[in-house]
Amino acid sequence: MTTAVYPGSFDPIHSGHLDVIRRAREIFDRVVVGVLDNDQKSYLFSVEERAELVRQSLPADIDIEVRPFSGLAVGFAVSERAGVIVRGLRAVSDLDSEFQMALMNRRLEPSVHTVFLTTAFANVYLSSSLLKDVCAHGGSIEGLVSPAVESALQQKLARSGAAAPRGV
Ligand code: PNS
Repeated sequence: MTTAVYPGSFDPIHSGHLDVIRRAREIFDRVVVGVLDNDQKSYLFSVEERAELVRQSLPADIDIEVRPFSGLAVGFAVSERAGVIVRGLRAVSDLDSEFQMALMNRRLEPSVHTVFLTTAFANVYLSSSLLKDVCAHGGSIEGLVSPAVESALQQKLARSGAAAPRGV
């Protein structure tokens, strides 16, 4: 049985991530999504909120585990007995930093392999930062995130005074 972990910030999860999770599960027997808890970084959603939004965004018929983690991604992989770290690649521009991380992770833990899955073409331009920005300025993100994420983003941004719904 091959276990893969899919670590990320997921602040919040979007359709590009969901596509990678679905395809990772087609390849690997067990997939654990790791939601990074890093107090050096500022997130819009807490780690519990981000993990819950991942759970709520997954299709009901898919068996994926979702777990917050802190520390190194390879440490998380080892703790889950995973031999693989999955990362999604949107464009060549992602490759530089992903290559660097993969090589460092291999140095830290040679038994864990990084596998890159290319994002579906329809999701190539998506990023959590872009979606937050569009939502904060009142643009529509319908279909690019799950309904749970859409309403959580609107609520969170409205509370912070950033959302200005304009129905674009
Ligand atoms: O969704 P992101 O922000 O692109 O995910 C980045 C993530 C979480 C995969 C990366 O920052 C990470 O692995 N962080 C955990 C700490 C770590 O392992 N750092 C060394 C990476 S070589």
